[in-house]
Amino acid sequence: MSKDKTASANPAAKLWGGRFSEATDAFVERFTASVNFDQRMALEDIQGSLAHAQMLSEVGVLTEDEYRQIADGLREIGIEIEAGEFPWSVQLEDVHMNIEARLTDRIGATGKKLHTGRSRNDQVATDIRLWLRGRIDQIAAELTRLQSGLVDLAEREADTIMPGFTHLQSAQPVTFGHHLLAWNEMLTRDYERLLDCRKRVNRSPLGAAALAGTSYPIDRARTAELLGFDAPTENSLDSVSDRDFAIEFCAFAALLLTHLSRASEELVLWTSSQFDFIDLPDRFCTGSSIMPQKKNPDVPELVRGKTGRVNGHLVALLTLMKSQPLAYNKDNQEDKEPLFDAADTALDCLRAFADMAPALRAKKENMLAAAAKGFSTATDLADYLVRRGVAFRDAHEIVGQSVSFAIEQDKDLAELSLAQLQQFSDQIGDDVFEVLTLEGSVAARDHIGGTAPAQVRAACERARKLIAARG
Ligand code: ARG
Repeated sequence: MSKDKTASANPAAKLWGGRFSEATDAFVERFTASVNFDQRMALEDIQGSLAHAQMLSEVGVLTEDEYRQIADGLREIGIEIEAGEFPWSVQLEDVHMNIEARLTDRIGATGKKLHTGRSRNDQVATDIRLWLRGRIDQIAAELTRLQSGLVDLAEREADTIMPGFTHLQSAQPVTFGHHLLAWNEMLTRDYERLLDCRKRVNRSPLGAAALAGTSYPIDRARTAELLGFDAPTENSLDSVSDRDFAIEFCAFAALLLTHLSRASEELVLWTSSQFDFIDLPDRFCTGSSIMPQKKNPDVPELVRGKTGRVNGHLVALLTLMKSQPLAYNKDNQEDKEPLFDAADTALDCLRAFADMAPALRAKKENMLAAAAKGFSTATDLADYLVRRGVAFRDAHEIVGQSVSFAIEQDKDLAELSLAQLQQFSDQIGDDVFEVLTLEGSVAARDHIGGTAPAQVRAACERARKLIAARG
């Protein structure tokens, strides 16, 4: 350690230790440190510092030579970090001060000039935005991979008939392809939300400094450009303090996981021996240590379970932000773990689903048999009567009586004879059996958003075009 005045008045050699007369309490040091988790943003921190130093040299605050030394030193530190050889220190509190101190160790006093015209407050806000932008792009790619797989599967299953449910009771027959496209719609909205969130993430807070800006002649548009941000943020106080972009991302992630957990729940139900609608390949399942017959759908179960933690992270961040006065407060150090975990969980769950979806095998005979049970074409019979001039309420009553009769006879509607059906209405003719079949029922729902196989194929084509346009 050098013998200059700053160092001797600063027992623990903190970068901010000038006004302190005793070392930080050891527990407080650990309690306030974030380096154990914020080192995940190390490469973004270096990226931000490189842009800041370059801009400082361009506006004449650093000489060309100083900038070169700083840039070379930062790049070497980057290599050291990637190799896992960086000596992280809790005494140096966070990723920012670890890297800055290391720079000065390596290149000497010039390293101390890097922090000119900035603060950890705008630095950390920049790092999180860069980190999150990278994750958003990975998540968008994985979401797209999942959707492509789903649309392909929907196309293959466009004619496969299954029961559609309301209240988890058999309601009307639908096609499996149509059901899969319902999942795809939810994911399309998630994708749109993600991209919308990215717009607000992708602004540069660098130059806001501690809270009020800086007296150096900085060029914020230049650092924004160097870092690939769309523009600098507008207000310095807001720039260092609000984490609404992270909250927005968690809201996206919570909805995504909510959608994935709904699909998971269906997969869990459908793989059960009671439903037995689909087969999930062994590689996505595990067994039981005691019951030899078991094959458990662990992957969808875990996705369903992980929704809880992501919802929790959203609430954690909302609560973290609530009531914080302007501008930066140390509370904001608590933004990282929930945000990191929300992003990791979203990415892992998408990966699991994207791998799993194309491998789902529909057990078509079981689906069809289940659709044939439960009077799922009763609405079709009512619609048939309405087409014959019966008022819908009367038709509803007639069909209700027919269903009740069929239950007594232990038969399905299509298994009743014409004479039996005609007891309830003389408007019923022998063409009624066309509408009582499952194929007739689904094919009749032939409009945009309907379950007819032809509509499913058209919807797949539209979905594919939308996905392809993402580039
Ligand atoms: N580790 C801090 C955080 O994550 C960095 C900013 C600290 N700024 C400060 N003024 N103490 O928020």
